[in-house]
Amino acid sequence: MSRGSRCTLGLLLLICVGAAAARPAPEESLAAANGTCSSRVEPFGYKCEEHTVTTEDGYILSLQRIPSGRGGASAASGGGKVPVLLQHGLMMDGLTWLMNSPNESLGFILADNGYDVWIGNTRGTVYSLGHTSLSSSDPAYWDWSWDELASNDLSAMLQYVYDQSNQQKVHYVGHSLGTLIAFAALSDQQEHIGMMRSAGLLSPIAFLNKVSSPLAVGAADVFLAEALYWLGLDEFDPTGTAVHNLLTGICKLPGVDCYDLLNGLTGDNCCLDSSSVQTFLAHEPQASSTKNMVHLAQMIRRGIIAKYDYGDASDNIKYYGQATPPVYNVSAIPDDFPLFLSSGGRDSLSDVHDVQRLEQALQSHDSDKLTVQYLADYAHADFVLAGNAKERVYQALMAFFRLQEK
Ligand SMILES: *[C@@H]1O[C@H](CO)[C@@H](O)[C@H](O)[C@H]1NC(C)=O
Ligand SMILES: *[C@@H]1O[C@H](CO)[C@@H](O)[C@H](O)[C@H]1NC(C)=O
Ligand SMILES: *[C@@H]1O[C@H](CO)[C@@H](O)[C@H](O)[C@H]1NC(C)=O
Repeated sequence: MSRGSRCTLGLLLLICVGAAAARPAPEESLAAANGTCSSRVEPFGYKCEEHTVTTEDGYILSLQRIPSGRGGASAASGGGKVPVLLQHGLMMDGLTWLMNSPNESLGFILADNGYDVWIGNTRGTVYSLGHTSLSSSDPAYWDWSWDELASNDLSAMLQYVYDQSNQQKVHYVGHSLGTLIAFAALSDQQEHIGMMRSAGLLSPIAFLNKVSSPLAVGAADVFLAEALYWLGLDEFDPTGTAVHNLLTGICKLPGVDCYDLLNGLTGDNCCLDSSSVQTFLAHEPQASSTKNMVHLAQMIRRGIIAKYDYGDASDNIKYYGQATPPVYNVSAIPDDFPLFLSSGGRDSLSDVHDVQRLEQALQSHDSDKLTVQYLADYAHADFVLAGNAKERVYQALMAFFRLQEK
């Protein structure tokens, strides 16, 4: 397939990329040695540190730290800065938080407002392809879904940031899949809560039953109908032939408009800034595992938030000791844990009805520990790519953070 006709699919963002905007060829992405700090942070005059952390199951993840704002004192010398861990969504990586100008991107805004900013990159993304014993070309490398992003990646990164900041409790901010893994970890592994100060969840995803994007629903049907085929591919490479063919098929379905794939998948984004979309196209989408895509498809079609379903009772018994996968109980998140939810009225992945169901599940939450923000004109990508997200979302998020720091 020629680079010029490359189509890419992701449940988060779905885009046909022209030649000019295509993702760098593998040799160019060796610039990974230079990484996010030197490509996207230091050029704007911020200090930046590259860190790695190894998960319990051997994945070597990269984290970037912006310890100070423009011209400000660093966390080490200033002392006592509150750490924030930023967690990207599906098909994205840590660059998510740095796509716009420093005045518009959350990663920089938090640094300028006195926070010690840590940017996570989950397994399978371009700067987190290392493993203690596997190569990313081994099928076993891709044997995970978002269950492991919650139980292993999130916990390893959180523990690392907590330790590096002299055991200061960490604010967490997630977008999209980054919110799902937080809901899973908060409901399932409550030992994490001792290290967390609060969670800000943008385009929150716990339930995916009402996803209104015909593209996402079409893809979910294909993943479930052809799970064996897809799982045989191990890596879900959005720039590869299999995904190109999948997309070509889905785009022929009635009611699916592939003319504007970004909005077609994520909703009618109101406020995308064209330069951030260019930055996005140059770097994303990132690979994921097909097991992760199948797991998300299970959520879309079954309407519950549960661990990965191996598809038959005996396999589930082998992994979980029960015939059906264990359910994550969002209502079990402690009622006094501070949560900030921000959702958009035009978001076709984090659908209004699914968010309502989430709020229902949180109805016993202490009212002074739950802030809910609703932006009628926002869609999925606006929360990280909109030029006005600072005024619309991030200022309220930081006000919420300050309340939790008293
Ligand atoms: C890293 O960036 C520097 C400066 O832009 C460049 O000279 C060097 O070739 C890059 N290294 C890699 C491995 O891409
Ligand atoms: C960014 O914000 C700073 C401080 O408010 C301001 O001085 C600067 O002009 C802004 N830069 C841009 C490009 O808007
Ligand atoms: C979920 O957690 C809530 C609060 O702890 C509890 O009341 C409820 O019974 C739990 N639901 C399930 C299905 O375990």
